[in-house]
Amino acid sequence: MSERPSPSAGSEPVIALDGVAKSFAGTQVIGELSFRVRRGEIVTLLGRTGAGKTTVLNLVMGTTPPDAGSVRVAGHDPFRQFKALRGHMAVSFQTDRLLPWRTAVENAELGLLILGKPKRQAREIAASWLGRVGLSGAEDRYVHELSGGMRQRVSLARALAVDPELVLLDESFSQLDHVTSSALRRDFCGLARQFGKTCLMVTHRIDDAIEMADRVIVLGARARIRLEAAVPAASEDGEARDRLRHDIETALGPEAAQDSHQQEHG
Ligand SMILES: Nc1ncnc2c1ncn2[C@@H]1O[C@H](COP(=O)(O)OP(=O)(O)OP(=O)(O)O)[C@@H](O)[C@H]1O
Ligand SMILES: [Mg+2]
Repeated sequence: MSERPSPSAGSEPVIALDGVAKSFAGTQVIGELSFRVRRGEIVTLLGRTGAGKTTVLNLVMGTTPPDAGSVRVAGHDPFRQFKALRGHMAVSFQTDRLLPWRTAVENAELGLLILGKPKRQAREIAASWLGRVGLSGAEDRYVHELSGGMRQRVSLARALAVDPELVLLDESFSQLDHVTSSALRRDFCGLARQFGKTCLMVTHRIDDAIEMADRVIVLGARARIRLEAAVPAASEDGEARDRLRHDIETALGPEAAQDSHQQEHG
C-alpha cells in the first residue's frame, strides 16, 4: 500500500489557493486563505462546524468563485474552466447520493457513462471497483438492499471508477458508526495511495486524520489556518504523533475536542 510516488516538491501543485476570500450575504466565511496540495498527497482539513471547510471544497470544485484571491486546480481556474476539469475530479459528500432505482453496479458506473465510456466497458470497470471496495457479489442489489456502509462503498467506487486525479471528500462516512466509518476511511486511503490519487478530505476525527493523511490543516474561524503540519510516519515514533494530536486538539479548541469525543462514543 505504501508503493506510491512520493509527492515531489518540484511539481506543480494539484490544488493551489492564494489569498482566497469569500463572503455570503455580507458575512465573511473565508478571510484570507492560502494552501497547496501536491500531487499524490492526502491532506485532511479539520475545523469546528462553520469554520468554512465545505466552502473550501466548493471553491476547489468550482461550484462557487472566490471574491478575492485565486483558486487553481491542476493549473485551471475551477470556476471559470469548470468543463476542463470534468473527469479529473471526483467528489464524495456527506450523503451517498445514490439513485434508488439503480443497482449497486448501475450506480457505480454512472460517472463513466456520463463521461461517454461505452456501456460494456463502463460496467466492467464499475464491477472491478465494487470488488476493490469489498462489494463483490452485491453488484445487482438495489440501494435499499444495502447497509449504510455498503452504500458509502458504492459511492466511493463510483467516485474512483472515473480515475480522477483529485478526490474531494466531505465527511462522507460520518453518518456511520465509528468502527464502520474508520474501516471505510482506511480502505479509501489505501486505494487512494495505491492508485496515486491526490486527496483533500474533511473529517472531524482527529485520530483518523492522523492515521490517513500526509498533512493536516486545522481551520479556525473564517477559515484562518491555525495549524498546518506534516504527519510523522507511523513507523517513526509514536511520541511525534501524540504531540501532533495534542497540537490539533489545541488548534481546534476545547469545544471541538469535546465534539469529537462525543462522536466517538455516540
Ligand atoms: N451558499 C451559502 N450561502 C450562505 N451562507 C453559506 C453558504 N455556504 C456556507 N455558508 C455559511 O458559511 C459558513 C461556513 O460554512 P461551511 O459549510 O463551509 O462550514 P463547515 O466548516 O463545512 O461546517 P460543518 O463542519 O458543520 O460542515 C456557515 O456559517 C454557513 O452558514
Ligand atoms: Mg461542512
